Amino acid sequence: MIKAIRGVKDILPSEVGIWQYLEATSQKILRNYGFSEFRVPIFEDTALFVRSIGEETDIVSKEMYTFPDRKGKSLTLRPEGTASVVRAFVEHKLYAQSPYQKLYYQGPMFRYERPQAGRSRQFHQIGAEVFGLAEPSVDAEMLTLVHDLFLKLGLSDTTLFLNSVGCPENCRPQYKKVLQEFLRKDLGDLCPDCQQRYEKNPLRIMDCKNEGCQAKLSQAPFILEHLCPACQQHHQEVERLLKLAGIPYRINYRLVRGLDYYTRTAFEVTSTGLGAQNAIAGGGRYDHLVEDFGGPSTPAIGFALGMERVVLALQGQGIAPKTVPLIYIAALGQAAREEAFLMARALRQKSLRVIMNYQDRSLKSLLKQADQMGAGFSLIMGENELASRRLLLRDMVHSMQEEVQMEDVAEVLVAKVLV
Ligand code: HAM
Repeated sequence: MIKAIRGVKDILPSEVGIWQYLEATSQKILRNYGFSEFRVPIFEDTALFVRSIGEETDIVSKEMYTFPDRKGKSLTLRPEGTASVVRAFVEHKLYAQSPYQKLYYQGPMFRYERPQAGRSRQFHQIGAEVFGLAEPSVDAEMLTLVHDLFLKLGLSDTTLFLNSVGCPENCRPQYKKVLQEFLRKDLGDLCPDCQQRYEKNPLRIMDCKNEGCQAKLSQAPFILEHLCPACQQHHQEVERLLKLAGIPYRINYRLVRGLDYYTRTAFEVTSTGLGAQNAIAGGGRYDHLVEDFGGPSTPAIGFALGMERVVLALQGQGIAPKTVPLIYIAALGQAAREEAFLMARALRQKSLRVIMNYQDRSLKSLLKQADQMGAGFSLIMGENELASRRLLLRDMVHSMQEEVQMEDVAEVLVAKVLV
């Protein structure tokens, strides 16, 4: 039997409701904040991700689904969305269309990671990017959006962690030296990957999962203490505005994020109760990426949430979307089924969710079907009911029945169901 690929999951009909709830809630908040949807391809030129995410990162060095196409061109299934949005932003010269842009996207991403709870190889993100604004108030607004989104979803156990990773012009090169100096005597004790990172990209050592490397870092200097005056001012303003808006956050001095394009603000949101894979969203500023891809100098900031993890968090907290109950028309005999065929359509036109039986069955078996299909109400009609034009309306949850005049069925159901 052919099965789904390891780390790649089906989202079953019984699970889809909570996904739709997450999608609809996110879209509403994103639109309220002035974002428009953007749809980018699922695979791209491999160089796009190597150059934007960074060669030394785990994503690029270990986790990409990269393959040659039939002509030998190297393609990669997108491991994240920002690189594609930046590519498209430059390719279509979106910067020339309006003073700034707010774009969001949603869809599957692919990373060859070891699958476990909350970590899969095909996973889904909802992400948002703002182009053309360098002001710290934009960072604060993005963090407010993220906070409002989780609040609206009903998640009550999230923590927003904030840091600054400085700028590549001034503070980051300085800090790299400070970090290298700090680690120099222990270089031999770092894992082989980190020994390589030490020269090229020592900040990545912060992100290493190896316990030995983490132990060495426990006394390491923080980048937040080595920011240049401009980055420091930016960071302080972000903090001030977060406090002004009453957005709770914590500084995580070691937060560097797993992608190399970040400048200044970097953040992550975690949810308790998810175990090791507790980051439900992450993002930050990336003021040089558009320019690196041939666009004009364009500051930018964004975030993405991991849908699987948010769904797990919602389920863990017993949050379920409200659904409109399903109505099952149980029609006994040919004439009743014909009436049901017409009635189902009329009720659907009133925005009710209606199904019916298409085969001859006993009433008992029809009511069993209704139960199995999750109906909240059944409408029962046989020869007698047709003749008297009075149907039986059965509340499936409370096992209660009442008679309803055929002409009043729609009105009665709308009142019961669409509240
Ligand atoms: P990221 O932190 O790599 O950032 O991913 C964002 C979120 O995607 C994570 O917080 C996590 O919830 C989810 N995620 C990542 N990998 C997996 C996985 N293997 N299985 C399940 N969920 C996963 C980015 O991707 C950046 N593009 C975010 C961004 C947008 N920064 C600026 N703009």
